[in-house]
Amino acid sequence: MSLHSKYGPLVRIAPNEVSIADLPAIKQIYGSGSRFRKSDWYSVWQGHRKFDLFAGRDEKVHGQQRKLVARAYAMETLKDLEPYVDDAIEVFMRKMREQIPGRIDMSKWAQLFAFDVIGEVTFSKSFGFMENSKDDGTFAAIGRAARSGSWLGQVSWLFWLHDALMPYIGNHLGVNNRHGGLRNFALRETASRKERPSAKKDIVGRLFQTSAEKPGEMDYNDVVSMATSNITAGSDTTGISMRAIIYFLLKNPEAKRRLIEEIDQRRRKGELSDPVSWNEANKMKYLQACMHEALRLHPAVGVNLPRVVPPGGTEIHGHYFPAGSIVGVNAWVVHRNKEVYGEDAEEFRPERRLKEDIGDMQRSFFSFGAGSRSCIGRNISWLEMSKLIPTLFLRYDVALADPYAEWSEHCQFFVHQTNFDVKLTPRKHPAT
Ligand code: HEM
Repeated sequence: MSLHSKYGPLVRIAPNEVSIADLPAIKQIYGSGSRFRKSDWYSVWQGHRKFDLFAGRDEKVHGQQRKLVARAYAMETLKDLEPYVDDAIEVFMRKMREQIPGRIDMSKWAQLFAFDVIGEVTFSKSFGFMENSKDDGTFAAIGRAARSGSWLGQVSWLFWLHDALMPYIGNHLGVNNRHGGLRNFALRETASRKERPSAKKDIVGRLFQTSAEKPGEMDYNDVVSMATSNITAGSDTTGISMRAIIYFLLKNPEAKRRLIEEIDQRRRKGELSDPVSWNEANKMKYLQACMHEALRLHPAVGVNLPRVVPPGGTEIHGHYFPAGSIVGVNAWVVHRNKEVYGEDAEEFRPERRLKEDIGDMQRSFFSFGAGSRSCIGRNISWLEMSKLIPTLFLRYDVALADPYAEWSEHCQFFVHQTNFDVKLTPRKHPAT
């Protein structure tokens, strides 16, 4: 961010890589039909998996794979799973109640919640992290993968050399980006889901069905790969985003007041269930604006999403890039563009999204990436966040435990983690 504010929209960040902060470039680089493929940075994430929606670099293969799994992630499909998100919300709320009047580590609980929901949505089985009030080491494994994968991707040749030599020299780099432990976790859960028929239409169940119908296109290992992606890509990111929404609301009392007003008005009119339903949350304009605004200021993914300039080269922002150059956009940078967001781009102001014309804001919203490689799990995250946040503020008066403290932050390159504590007071609602 500071390099862009110093040098402008194009900044060389590596010998052959340029960071781009130009609105039309998002469509040019990531738009459907663009021929910019993912760079070798992703190869270290894919490792030896043949089915990897996130890291695969052959666009044709990716298109076929995405078509195979898209239905399992569609909003219409996910709505069937809403009751299980409600179950997770109830466990979350019970755990909150048990901690009153103490300080509650919201960072931890948002993350535990997000993981348990991914368990439900993927395998019809909560991981039980909330019940145990802790995870089983998975958070640290994802943290290690994020840390090592981010820098190793810049020198992917070193990763592959090390990978080839590992049987002889051992793991000298401490590389933990092949998701070994996480894949084993997904393997175990996928196997147990296969043995445990479930009436619930979870993602792995749907993918087993696809695999049975099209065995040549999707095999058992591919189902495990998708389950691994759900765990690695879907839970930490959602936990981080949920914290950002809560934190910005608590730091901005006027926004919190307006959200509570929206919640209470709807409750009084009998238009709000408890837990809040997806349909109801979707109609809450202020809530939706708060969620977008928090994800704008704190996108979970903190790195550039690098792409390779296709044969023939291209021009971006009046500058020629030869074929093979690497270009990428970073959500943290484009989300602070003053031409799009105004002089107060650094501030949390959900009202900016309530204006008539927010076309440029929508076009520059990059928290979930863009185009054909944009996040396939976005609906899952949006569903759980849209439900948990209003339900929390419906039931509790939420405040920062240290009102003047800033959250503590630590960057894991790929993602940007935060910590803060809250205090909760149950709200008393007059009978409606
Ligand atoms: C707020 C939560 C989330 C954020 C901020 C987020 C962010 C992103 C971003 C930025 C990308 C694009 C990466 C790129 O172009 O290299 C992406 C892709 C992806 N995400 Fe998410 N994600 C979230 C939740 C989820 C969930 C819940 C799942 C699965 C259950 C998921 C699975 C994936 C997969 C599989 C891809 C690759 C899609 C493709 O290339 O076709 N994500 N995500």
